[in-house]
Amino acid sequence: MKETGYFITFEGADGCGKTTQSKLVQEYLENKGYEVVWTREPGSVGLGQRIRELLLHYDGDVAPRCEAFLFLADRAQHIEHIIKPAVKEGKIVLCDRHTDSTIAYQGYGRGEDIEELKYLNNLATSGMKPDLTIVFDVSTEIAQLRIGAEKDRMESAGIEFHKKVRNGYLEIAKQEPERVKVVNADNGIEEVFEDTKIIINELLNQ
Ligand SMILES: Nc1ncnc2c1ncn2[C@@H]1O[C@H](COP(=O)(O)OP(=O)(O)O)[C@@H](O)[C@H]1O
Ligand SMILES: [Mg+2]
Repeated sequence: MKETGYFITFEGADGCGKTTQSKLVQEYLENKGYEVVWTREPGSVGLGQRIRELLLHYDGDVAPRCEAFLFLADRAQHIEHIIKPAVKEGKIVLCDRHTDSTIAYQGYGRGEDIEELKYLNNLATSGMKPDLTIVFDVSTEIAQLRIGAEKDRMESAGIEFHKKVRNGYLEIAKQEPERVKVVNADNGIEEVFEDTKIIINELLNQ
């Protein structure tokens, strides 16, 4: 293992299986003896949790740029307080959503300027990038079925929006093939996990 730890992000549309797979990876790596920190965006602990509540449950109108800044504010806090220290201590950080969510949702989904969002992401993270990002690519119809009737504000944004988000993720993967790997997430949980493990092991064994 390299001197510092690893920073791995899990990305994809709502219902693609990010939380399911990242928790399976946590268990898998802990069984192998790695120290793992599982975390998520928006809102991990403390201030971030309060921002998460606003983002997912505020029932008034939210300007797209305000939405973007709330996610970015949470990210700036998260990277300094949780991600950076853990990676420095040699741990493997598994993060359920991160910078690519901003590009896919606010950029490709809501139509905010992508280059500007990249700049803002960079500002929020002080330039720290994931060592690996796995995008779980799921057809929008399957994802909607998995989410079911209980949807939060982002999940309720409509099928056309979610299709744009999906295509956004695939575009990101095309642009950064070294960092971003795509897994077919239409498959069952076990099959998706097999593909995920191969990608994780490629990173850890290199
Ligand atoms: N590959 C899969 N096949 C079928 N159901 C799945 C699969 N992955 C996750 N699920 C189920 O779909 C729902 C959403 O999964 P979750 O991991 O919470 O997705 P996300 O975190 O990406 O929104 C959960 O009920 C989960 O058990
Ligand atoms: Mg989730």
